Amino acid sequence: MTDTVLVVDFGAQYARLIARRVREAHVYSEIVPASISVEEIRARAPKGIIFSGGPKSVYETPAPSIDPGIYALGIPILGLCYGAQLMALQLGGTVSRTGQGEYGRTELSSTGPSPLCADWPVTSSVWMSHGDAITAVPEGFVATATSPGAPVAAMHDPDRRLFGLQFHPEVVHTDRGSEVFDHFLIDVCGCLPEWTHVSIIEQQVAAVRAQVGSDRVLCALSGGVDSAVAAALVHKAVGDQLTCVFVDTGLMRSGEADQVEDTFRRQFKVDLVHVKAADRYFAALAGVTDPERKRKIIGELFIRIFEEVARDLGAGAGTDAEADAGGAAGAGTGAGPRFLVQGTLYPDVIESGSDTAANIKSHHNVGGLPDDLAFELVEPLRLLFKDEVRAVGEELGLPHEIVWRQPFPGPGLGVRIIGEVTPERAEILRNADAVVVEEIRRAGLYRELWQSFAVLPAVRTVGVMGDGRTYAYPVVIRAVTSDDAMTADWARLPYDLVERIASRIINEVEGVNRVALDVTSKPPGTIEWE
Ligand code: XMP
Repeated sequence: MTDTVLVVDFGAQYARLIARRVREAHVYSEIVPASISVEEIRARAPKGIIFSGGPKSVYETPAPSIDPGIYALGIPILGLCYGAQLMALQLGGTVSRTGQGEYGRTELSSTGPSPLCADWPVTSSVWMSHGDAITAVPEGFVATATSPGAPVAAMHDPDRRLFGLQFHPEVVHTDRGSEVFDHFLIDVCGCLPEWTHVSIIEQQVAAVRAQVGSDRVLCALSGGVDSAVAAALVHKAVGDQLTCVFVDTGLMRSGEADQVEDTFRRQFKVDLVHVKAADRYFAALAGVTDPERKRKIIGELFIRIFEEVARDLGAGAGTDAEADAGGAAGAGTGAGPRFLVQGTLYPDVIESGSDTAANIKSHHNVGGLPDDLAFELVEPLRLLFKDEVRAVGEELGLPHEIVWRQPFPGPGLGVRIIGEVTPERAEILRNADAVVVEEIRRAGLYRELWQSFAVLPAVRTVGVMGDGRTYAYPVVIRAVTSDDAMTADWARLPYDLVERIASRIINEVEGVNRVALDVTSKPPGTIEWE
């Protein structure tokens, strides 16, 4: 069993960052709510516990708290910012409104040796964000650092192995912050740094085998990184018990279908059902211009096609339900697949706040599969952050182009053609998009940008080429930077790059005579145009 450290979330945006820092130190971490009981913690047997910061003051009501029985478990605890103040208060120290908060880079002065900041110079630069401050340590604690606004900026009780830091070691602005985690995890908690992408794969392969046994498994591939890594992992675990389904909607990016074929059929020798459904999609979308209707049509058709494939394979409830004239759907009857792979990631699990698959966001690429397809879900990525998924993908031998591919919306190019979606427009947009991506890659910006793509507003504008007048589509270049797609900034692409993209699109993509650049951030815009 891998050593585990629990990160108690007191409502900070930092809890996730802390969990990632722990994993970067090769120790497995999980985020838990502050309402967790002492019994639950004991049952999980973590090697260490970290209290996150939080936006509240310990004197607010209500302010998040934790069962003080946690301090008697004998498990080392590291409290950060709010977590340190809560620890101080619960154990009999003093937290005061000094009226002298600190926000941003702050000078920390060492006043005594600390196992977490071993060999630090007398002064160092740390990141602070607090209003209240610890002014007296609880019994058994020693204070080891101070700052202009924090009389006690670091404290610990060596016997009980309890630590409190007013600053944030998890942010990059704190010099030597990662050392704090190394010292706490390895020296204090005695964790073994065994959480590596190799061990992740071993564990997940074992877990999938245990779950699936000798049954068959179905996986919908979207061309994106999550479903690809999930499929590759499951394939490593159960080999030809896996069947993958790739629905080519005619709304994919250039080369996407070939890439999936190459990788999964030829390289991994996966049993792949490639459904060429472009005609069905274009027929269903004919005459439709409303963005929400487009999304609905595309999503529902995906489900219908997936059901058809599943039925052909004798899977899930479909066949039984029909035969029973509406009787209860039983999974696993016959030789068809009983399990369905989902590329759910850890942030989805945290956000849904529950272990049930029902809460997975409908935004998910293959989300929205109907309940009466009675599959059991296999979710080999549900413990992983995106960067870990990518590392696992590389380790499994997936091509860079898939592992590092920018996000792509489930409805594909359908929501990047503004107006009716037609085969001609999809082809124009795919070709223009290929130019954008190629030039962005060539400029070395592909990984730096959250997304970079082309949009086709289906209006025509007048132009002149050679001796003739043209009347053709404009293409809009959309490139954004972002951390999580919740907010985004338009990317300041170099002008010569914009020029190269524009002139290549106009020269190479028939049907386009004008290129524009989208300079809208999110908010007020969204990343996609529909
Ligand atoms: P917006 O346009 O809302 O997009 O700023 C935020 C992020 O979500 C992606 N996106 C989708 N992803 N299915 C998906 O899997 C969808 O229907 C969908 N719509 C938007 C978008 O590309 C961006 O990364």
